[in-house]
Parts: sequence; C-alpha cells; structure tokens
Amino acid sequence: MTDIPSPAPPLPVRIAGTGSYVPERVMSNAELEKIVDTSDDWITSRTGIKERRIARANEFTSHMAAKAGQRALEQAEIDPADVDLIIVATITPDTLTPATACYVQQHLGCLKSVAFDVSAACSGFLYALELARHSIGAGAFRNALIIGAEKLSSFVNWSDRNTCVLFGDGAGAAVITPSLNGGGRVLSSQLGTDGAQAELLNIPGGGSSCPITIENAPQQLATLAMQGREVFKHAVNAMKRASIEAISAAGLTSQDIKLLIPHQANLRIIDAIVERLEIAKEDVFINLHKYGNTSAAAVAIALDEAHREGRMERGDKILLVAFGAGLTWASAVIEW
Ligand code: COA
Repeated sequence: MTDIPSPAPPLPVRIAGTGSYVPERVMSNAELEKIVDTSDDWITSRTGIKERRIARANEFTSHMAAKAGQRALEQAEIDPADVDLIIVATITPDTLTPATACYVQQHLGCLKSVAFDVSAACSGFLYALELARHSIGAGAFRNALIIGAEKLSSFVNWSDRNTCVLFGDGAGAAVITPSLNGGGRVLSSQLGTDGAQAELLNIPGGGSSCPITIENAPQQLATLAMQGREVFKHAVNAMKRASIEAISAAGLTSQDIKLLIPHQANLRIIDAIVERLEIAKEDVFINLHKYGNTSAAAVAIALDEAHREGRMERGDKILLVAFGAGLTWASAVIEW
C-alpha cells in the first residue's frame, strides 16, 4: 500500500482589514419586558445582555453584510473589483437560494468574485476564515472577503421568553490576503462538529423536513428552538477544548494570549471559559451587553471593535473562539 503524503501546510495569510455594521434601532431589556414575561434583572443577571439591535423590515442580512464588508475593504485598501472570493457565514439568509453572498457581491460590485454561504451557526465566521485561509494558502484565490451576518430578529419567536431575549442583528467582516508582510497573520485554526447534538439548538421548520404550511403556520416552526441548559454546558466544554487546541497548534500557551475574543452569547459562558483557561478578565473583549448574541456576526463584530478601539497591538497573540448550533465550534490564533 502506498502512503498518501500529508498535504503541504497552507501558505500564510493575514487579516488585512476588518469592518462591522449594526442596525440603528436599539431594543432594550425594558422594551422586552412589555413583550414577554421577563425583567431587565433576569436578563442581565443570567446573560449579561442589556440591549440588542434590530434591523428595519426592509434591511436584510445582505445589506448589513455589505456595509460591514465595505468597511473592511476600505480599511484593507482593496478595491471591490479585486476581491475574488466572498464567503458569507449566516443562518438567516435573505433567501434559501441563492446564497446571501451572491446579493453581497452585487451590493459591493465585487463582480469578479466567487460567492457562496457557509452555514455553521455561531461558529460560521471562523469556519469562513478557515476556508479562506486554505483557499488563499493553496493559491486558488488572492483577496477574500469573509463576513458573518445575521438578521435573527426575523427567526425569533417573539412570544418565547427563553429565546427572544438572547438574540440581535448585525454583521462583521474581514479581508483575508496572502501574508507578504504586516500583522494579522493567522497562526492556527481548529474546527469541530457534533451532529449528534443537532436537536439542542435549531430552526425546526422551513426546510425540506418540515415545510411551513397553512396548517402548521401558527406553531411558528421557522424560529429558533433551544435547550438552553444543555447548550450552555456544551458551549463551555467545546470552547475550552477548541481554545487549548488552537493555542497549542500555534506553539503557544494561554499565558501568551494578549486578547481573547470569544463568541458573545452569555457572560456566564465567557466567565467559565476564562476561568478554565486562566486568562485575566481584562484580557477578554466583551460587547454582548450592547448587541446580544448575533450568531455568526458576533466574533466578527467583536474583532472589528477591538481593532478600532486599539485593543490589539502589533505582535499581540489574539485568540478567537466560537460555538453554535450543529453543534459546531471553532477557534483561531492570530498574530496582530
Ligand atoms: N425571563 C425570565 N425568566 C426566564 C426567562 C426570561 N427571559 N427565560 C427563562 N426563564 C425562566 C425559566 O422559565 C425557568 O423558570 P422555572 O425554573 O420556573 O422553570 C428559569 O428562568 C430558569 O431557566 P433556566 O433555563 O434554567 O435558566 P438558565 O440559568 O440556564 O439561563 C439561558 C437560561 C438560556 C440564559 C442559558 O441556559 C444559556 O445562556 N444557555 C446557552 C444559550 C446560548 O448561548 N445559546 C446560543 C449558543 S451559540
């Protein structure tokens, strides 16, 4: 039997620019108190969320994605015409087909690009990063625009207090290029999936297994359903494991991490990971109090805000980690 040679490692790539966009409309916990049986105190103490952004009826996932993407391209000083790959990570696409990335291509005028979506829930942005890293590293593409974008407000059951208080809308983006020089180099990345736990967090209706009909419409099956406590436990364990793997694959220890940018779902989940990784609380970027859980957009928005707020200096090692429906998880270490 001939040994199959292991694939060559991809050529290095870097994050050349970041961008984000959130809708103007703020929905506070106080406003939610008028919609469902909840309280600011419950939401704040159980999740850390104070408010979230809600897109206008005529503002779609692709519009938010394009705004975030444009800001990332401006920062990277890359012309839209030079983008050859667009990957949008989303579970709330404009339409089931075509992909939201196709609309984004049109909005931005990236007319020479290949464009498609990935569906990996809250881990989607880091899945897109890994795809872009390998595609560019193999020489297949040169300038990738990766975007996490969600309009979760369209897929939330606004009468279910277990879920509707948790989510929000927004988009974040990054431009990935070959790493000739400059910071933002991706040192390592790890992905994982456990389909056996798919039922813990899903949108049960609206797909081929359960089309929405006149009969089942009142059940609101095309909205998020979640077993919160179970998801919580898996989230802590998977993000801890994924973090350790990415740090070790980069040849580092957690003491080397200057900033942790975790998925922004619940402050208690973040606290549990930080404690297990022994990272100082001041070295963790948190914005979930402003936006809630924006799924695939969350890590991308946080990365852009951390960048624009000057939280990352050249040479700093940054850990990104996410977890979501699937179940999926993902992590990456970046040298800024
Ligand atoms: N307001 C007030 N009470 C609420 C509420 C709300 N918005 N949502 C749930 N409750 C109630 C429950 O009905 C339950 O009442 P009961 O004890 O009378 O049955 C009580 O609060 C406790 O519910 P529980 O589910 O145990 O709360 P929790 O401490 O686990 O917090 C979550 C619930 C959803 C915040 C938490 O489980 C969580 O964050 N899970 C992970 C979610 C997540 O991150 N999902 C996305 C992953 S990417």
